Amino acid sequence: MKIKKVYVEELITTKQINPGLELLNKQYDKRLKDAKHTVKSIRKNKIRFFGCFLGKRLIAVFGLIHHFSIRESQYGHLFGEDEHALRYVATVGQLASINQIRPNTLYSILFDTAQRLGISKLYAIITEHEPFYTDNLNATIHKQNCDIHVGSDVPVTAISMDCQALGKDTARFIRRSPSATFKYYEGNMVTLVRETCNSDAVWGPYQRSFTEIITSVQQEVYLDIAKQLDGPVLDVGCGPANLLKFIPDKRLEYHGVDQNPLMVLGAQTRINELGFTQASAEHGRTEQFYVSGFGVKTICSINSLYASQFPYEQLKHLANQLKKGGTLWLVNPNPNMTEEKMAQLLANERGRWGQHPLFDEFCNKNIELVKTFNAHFFPLEDLCNWLTSLGLEIKAQSSDYFAGAVNLIQAVKQ
Ligand SMILES: C[S@@+](CC[C@H](N)C(=O)[O-])C[C@H]1O[C@@H](n2cnc3c(N)ncnc32)[C@H](O)[C@@H]1O
Repeated sequence: MKIKKVYVEELITTKQINPGLELLNKQYDKRLKDAKHTVKSIRKNKIRFFGCFLGKRLIAVFGLIHHFSIRESQYGHLFGEDEHALRYVATVGQLASINQIRPNTLYSILFDTAQRLGISKLYAIITEHEPFYTDNLNATIHKQNCDIHVGSDVPVTAISMDCQALGKDTARFIRRSPSATFKYYEGNMVTLVRETCNSDAVWGPYQRSFTEIITSVQQEVYLDIAKQLDGPVLDVGCGPANLLKFIPDKRLEYHGVDQNPLMVLGAQTRINELGFTQASAEHGRTEQFYVSGFGVKTICSINSLYASQFPYEQLKHLANQLKKGGTLWLVNPNPNMTEEKMAQLLANERGRWGQHPLFDEFCNKNIELVKTFNAHFFPLEDLCNWLTSLGLEIKAQSSDYFAGAVNLIQAVKQ
């Protein structure tokens, strides 16, 4: 497998925090002997502690503490006054990683996480690597050679980094599309732990029927994409990996991700049954998966964007995970997809699928999905404009799928 996928989660329970502390304290042992953390100190200092995982292995951690003004932080006096009234800012700390994660991937996760929490500026105390921060992350130096005890007797430098409006160097280093800074979310874009996705009442009950029944309008979408796919492929919101049924090359590198564990199980079963040798499926939210390194060649997002709480941000995330020249295949219903339209499309399938024991379940679920998510059935033009603003070029676009109710866009990263 060539792609390395890194998943970010917030570490909240003692069971989650402990392995994070083990990794952190091992590195502090070398440089900052007296700065060891405990579960208690993480909680007492209101540190939001995040972990980056490669599969099940924890490979990096970082901590963020929110402040309304940097003045209220422990080292506030090193930073001077805030230049202007910022909303939330945060201090970054507890940063440790093993060399399984590239620095640009780690910092892209850190910046995105801060943005998700509505933080506009990050403040930090560093003991080494000043040029790394100034050259790659447009860091401002506030004070150097400070004699502050941070767990060892080395002098420290106080720096800050803008994490909403990214500087040019930062955008290049962490591979962010330049135009797209996050909107202000008041911190309501959460970074969940995988276990919290386990009770998914929307998608879980859909898995059985969705795995077995593939309607003619779905087939058309899968076929049109499958014949033009170039691996490695990241299939976000992959469901039971229906797409694989339409791909003849069993050696295609394919990675499915889905936030519903039953869907992931379905995808893994399908991978094995069809005999794909370089395919995998993993549990987690699209927004929390990062492709380490230079990005992935192809991303498929087929009828999954509409289920996202913040669809524009999910698109932005996908654009950021693409390699230069890489392709995004985006399929999403448009406003023509009404309950009546769905009912009509399903009625057309009765001849072929009507005898299937799960057909009624499949129909009811599809109608329910239209009712639940129709606010995110976007016009083709809106999607194209978003993608263009994210630095992608539209190569093909159509609203003809599902009898005019679903858009398909092929967009290439510039
Ligand atoms: C209608 S199914 C589509 C499955 C597949 N892409 C296909 O076309 O066959 C939508 C899938 O998106 C998944 N999903 C929704 N939001 C997600 C998110 N934020 N991250 C990962 N998966 C998500 C759901 O669990 C569900 O399996």
